[in-house]
Amino acid sequence: MKDKVILSGMRPTGKLHLGNYFGALENWLRLQDEYKCFFFVADWHALTTVYEDTGDIGKNVRDVVIDWLSTGLDPQKCVIFLQSRVKQHAELYLLFSMITPLSWLTRCPTYKDQLLQIKDKNISTYGFLGYPCLQAADILMYNADFVPVGEDQLPHVELTREIARRFNYLYGKTFKEPQPKLTVSKVLPGTDGRKMSKSYNNTIALSDSPEEMGKKVGRMVTDPARIRKDDPGHPDVCSVFAYHKLFNPDEVKSVEFSCRKGEIGCVQCKRNLVSKMQEFLTPIYERRIELEKNEDYITEVIEQGSLKASQEADRIMGMARQAMKIDF
Ligand code: TRP
Ligand code: SF4
Repeated sequence: MKDKVILSGMRPTGKLHLGNYFGALENWLRLQDEYKCFFFVADWHALTTVYEDTGDIGKNVRDVVIDWLSTGLDPQKCVIFLQSRVKQHAELYLLFSMITPLSWLTRCPTYKDQLLQIKDKNISTYGFLGYPCLQAADILMYNADFVPVGEDQLPHVELTREIARRFNYLYGKTFKEPQPKLTVSKVLPGTDGRKMSKSYNNTIALSDSPEEMGKKVGRMVTDPARIRKDDPGHPDVCSVFAYHKLFNPDEVKSVEFSCRKGEIGCVQCKRNLVSKMQEFLTPIYERRIELEKNEDYITEVIEQGSLKASQEADRIMGMARQAMKIDF
């Protein structure tokens, strides 16, 4: 039944927030029922930017896995693994580095953007330049048909396709050209109305306690034109309303109506939202508490998944070495 392969990964950058959930994870949860899925933590990719300060990576890896499991990613349905536990990724990356023209890497838009944007670290390194080459190894290692990613990752999937084509051209057909599967992301603003991002300090984390979440919603920006509670409001400019659309679909129409009429105050509107968000987030939070108590289980999920991934990786590596005639 599950014949098509999906692969995707996340760098371990800390606990996931609601933007990450609706931008990617929610999608993965659906995909695990329909495809043969490989989901992994890209800890080597994290090294490309935090190589000077590696102390948090281990904890971040576990936090990401706990986020995945607490929201319902199921190791019985998909393969959950850690990139650095499947050493074959390093081998395929090395082979790809031999055939990837430098110009493909230097003209990659994500590379150029990051060089301009990241000023507090020196990322003029060989490893950072090779980032997409490592990503190509991640993807082609499992002959993925589809790679669910956000728009920002499209150049990397395109480069992966080019590397696959070049390898196949040089050594004979070995790799499939994967398709990106664009995540139709539901946009959730941060608590200050800007894009939700850790660097803006405006996130609501999946791991926030129900109380913390309630406080953050309480401080959330609303329609600035509403001063008194019977002033007519403009839900379209209000972050709280954007949350109602996601967490309270049944009442969206009535919230919109009473806001426009000036019939509900923002405090009441937020209180209603918090209770809807709690219905969704509290079970996730409770599962997280259980998972955090069970360190051995997390380790086991990572080890078992990495073992499964390794078996698949061995098969593909065998094919790649053979195609290159280096299986001596
Ligand atoms: N580069 C991706 C990101 O920053 C993470 C990643 C690494 C990835 N390898 C991948 C995503 C392979 C999809 C497929 O989000
Ligand atoms: Fe936003 Fe609700 Fe206030 Fe309207 S009533 S401005 S939707 S918080």
